[in-house]
Amino acid sequence: MSHRQPKNRLNRRDFVRQGSSAVALGMFLSNGIFNPATAEESFKLAIDGGPKAVTAEAGSGERWGEPELRQLQEMLNQSTLFYWGGPQTALLKKRFQEVCPVKYVQTCSSGTAALHIAVASAGIGLGDEVITSPVTDIGTVIGVIYQQAVPVFADLGPATFNLDPADVERRITPRTRAIIAVHLMGNPCDMEALRQIADRHKLVLIEDCCQAWGAKYRGKPIGTIGDFACFSLQNSKHVTCGDGGVVGTNSDQYGPNIQRFGDKGYDRTRGLGLEVFATNYRMSEPQAAVAAAQLTRLEAIAQKRSRLGNLLTEIISGCPGIIPHQVHPQDRAVYWFYMFRLKLDELRCNRSQFVRALQAEGVPANGGYIGKPLYGEPVFQKHAFFAGHWPVKEMGLTKMDYTQHRCPEAEAILATCVRLPITEFMEEDYIRQVGAAIRKVAKYYAA
Ligand SMILES: Cc1ncc(COP(=O)(O)O)c(C=O)c1O
Repeated sequence: MSHRQPKNRLNRRDFVRQGSSAVALGMFLSNGIFNPATAEESFKLAIDGGPKAVTAEAGSGERWGEPELRQLQEMLNQSTLFYWGGPQTALLKKRFQEVCPVKYVQTCSSGTAALHIAVASAGIGLGDEVITSPVTDIGTVIGVIYQQAVPVFADLGPATFNLDPADVERRITPRTRAIIAVHLMGNPCDMEALRQIADRHKLVLIEDCCQAWGAKYRGKPIGTIGDFACFSLQNSKHVTCGDGGVVGTNSDQYGPNIQRFGDKGYDRTRGLGLEVFATNYRMSEPQAAVAAAQLTRLEAIAQKRSRLGNLLTEIISGCPGIIPHQVHPQDRAVYWFYMFRLKLDELRCNRSQFVRALQAEGVPANGGYIGKPLYGEPVFQKHAFFAGHWPVKEMGLTKMDYTQHRCPEAEAILATCVRLPITEFMEEDYIRQVGAAIRKVAKYYAA
């Protein structure tokens, strides 16, 4: 038997290199023979009249149903719907601690609230600097600004889209009090490096886990390495109760504060007077009931999204003009979305052309994430947080000038990233077709 392969038969490696789009596009005959007749036509972009690379359905399914209904019915038999002493809140806290084992937990009204409670509980205030990512939801820094502290934005890793620890350290000043590590898109930050920096400079490390339910850093649940874990239960998150949040900490120093800062300053355990000033961020029992039921779904959601996102990375790795989402092999990223970057200097197209071509192939992709790094938004550029003013700046307590703030890599990420949904309802075959579509479009435009 000859060891030489017929010219029209691809070995496995060649097949992967050619783009697994071939399978989706029917470029193989049933006996596994490469079919050059369809190949040329198949590489014709769908936007130019060629066949679509994605023919499978993205899939859909139930995000809430029986378990939530049961929990809500149980809740309706209660004599109170208030969080303090509420059985649903107790159940939510217990289930949260199974996902994120921390000693103190406070349920609250949003991820923004969770982050504000963390910042306030850590005693961050007037003129204190808090270093964080400029590519995140504004909710990451709302609490910082309300505490009259100053967000300082550090640059990001080019493909992790998370804080670059070296740049974080460069931006530390005598006023720096905390770092907020945002696990963007569910990809864990480099927590070891950030923990070391925080310890070296005596800073509080807050984890913004709003997009990262179920993520793991080197096997450890996300939220357990920093001093605070902050989660969102808003509708678009892995688990939800419409709107809601959870904040947790292992710290005996800060732990007792989180209840008070979530509840207008009232200390409900000891019934003391108002020793701290805080707003009302409470979560009611109906929300807690839904959230508690949702947490029973989390592990399956996290596992599925992790598997699908990693599969997509595998398929598009090595593809010209593409930088896949970079995840540490020992971490579990849970892909709130999948984000990859275009190397536009290697492609004969701009991002909108690429995205339009991908959409025509059947991929629900979008160019970009947030419109600008946070410091580029008008409210930052005008330093106009409080009725057109920023007292901290006007009082000379900060020299921060957001018009001069720059994070070049973050800006480049936003200019070149492409984002597409990953959900627990998708199947591997669908993801393979999405990967094939990305390869097909990238190959077409490769310079
Ligand atoms: C990274 C990040 N931080 C904070 C928040 C704020 O959460 P919420 O919308 O629940 O206030 C979000 C919400 O999208 C987020 O994605």
